[in-house]
Amino acid sequence: MQIITILSLIIAIGETVAQTNPWDPQPGDGALWQVEHQILVDQTRRHGAEERIIFVGDSLTQFWLILGAPVWAIHYTPRHAYNYGIGGDMTQNVIFRIQNQEFDGLQPVVTVLMIGGNNFWHTNDTVADVAHGTQEIVNELLAKMPTTKIILLGNIPASIPGLNEKLQQHTALISKLANDRNVYFLDMWSHFLDTNQSQNLNLYISDGVHLNELGYQ
Ligand SMILES: *[C@@H]1O[C@H](CO)[C@@H](O)[C@H](O)[C@H]1NC(C)=O
Ligand SMILES: *[C@@H]1O[C@H](CO)[C@@H](O)[C@H](O)[C@H]1NC(C)=O
Repeated sequence: MQIITILSLIIAIGETVAQTNPWDPQPGDGALWQVEHQILVDQTRRHGAEERIIFVGDSLTQFWLILGAPVWAIHYTPRHAYNYGIGGDMTQNVIFRIQNQEFDGLQPVVTVLMIGGNNFWHTNDTVADVAHGTQEIVNELLAKMPTTKIILLGNIPASIPGLNEKLQQHTALISKLANDRNVYFLDMWSHFLDTNQSQNLNLYISDGVHLNELGYQ
């Protein structure tokens, strides 16, 4: 797992991907993605019954196990949390994973979802289309795991030209998916700003996109 996640740390940065509708299932590119997907299917088969909290998303979720490992170990391992992040994932890739056994039979109390940034980073997807993809993920997660409560995390700022406006618009759209019954929205953006309301780079690694240990804290 460790070697694979480090490999995907390298691959997730600057990757280009085939363009498909953000709400249609699509596997990620390459053999490594298939391996990571299979590892997560196996994680579900082996640990499904103990999984109380699951985190679903892209590299920001996955790298919690590497760049944020001490934080994960202190706060989440004791709570029976399991990580379902795959670096580079867009909304359509998560939909493929839901439809291909990753979450079959799970009954976590809480499902934390953070997704969408890679759609804006790697494609010209519109904000509305990515929000549509995000809504599809929420719907399909609830169909697979009817008793879970979903905590939908808003996006965080990134040092990529032109990206932040789209990330904020996406966040505003998906915040409306909250129903205070089984879908809750949590703002992240404000926590990653400094006192001047600029991106707080102290919380990021040098690419200005991924978080360091302090950021995961
Ligand atoms: C996005 O649009 C720009 C400008 O039209 C184009 O140059 C670029 O190739 C497009 N990117 C993708 C991934 O389609
Ligand atoms: C905020 O802006 C002021 C004035 O430009 C600057 O001196 C200060 O260092 C900035 N603070 C942070 C946290 O970047």
